[in-house]
Amino acid sequence: MAIRNIVKNGDEILRKVCRTQMTFDDKLATILDDMIETMYAADGVGLAAPQIGMLRRYCVIDIGEGVIELVNPVIEETEGVQEETEGCLSYPGEYGITRRPMKVTVRAQNRKGENIRVTGEGLLARALCHEIDHLDGVIYKDRVIK
Ligand code: NI
Repeated sequence: MAIRNIVKNGDEILRKVCRTQMTFDDKLATILDDMIETMYAADGVGLAAPQIGMLRRYCVIDIGEGVIELVNPVIEETEGVQEETEGCLSYPGEYGITRRPMKVTVRAQNRKGENIRVTGEGLLARALCHEIDHLDGVIYKDRVIK
């Protein structure tokens, strides 16, 4: 495993739409392992592939309840609304209040290509929305309300 460089503020890669991940091989597993290590080293709760320079649709999340890996995630259902403080490892030291759903259900694949479904409330719902936004070139700052 290796710690990858996190792409920072201003890099145009953060604004690109990522491509679907079609292969579920050792290369993907290695990148996901690296992303997990990089996320923990940076003390973050989530990291998306474009943040390490990969324009692919996958991300990792750990809000303190264990790691969640999502390949080709799609938000299936949302419920309620929350307004909370949010930041991003690509924008160190910056924070803003965003409006997000209180609860989301995401369908995705795991590193083996198996279909999975994840439901999260509160912080996990925010992290799911935040990381999936990254895959479409959307930054939390686009959603800051104050
Ligand atoms: Ni982020």
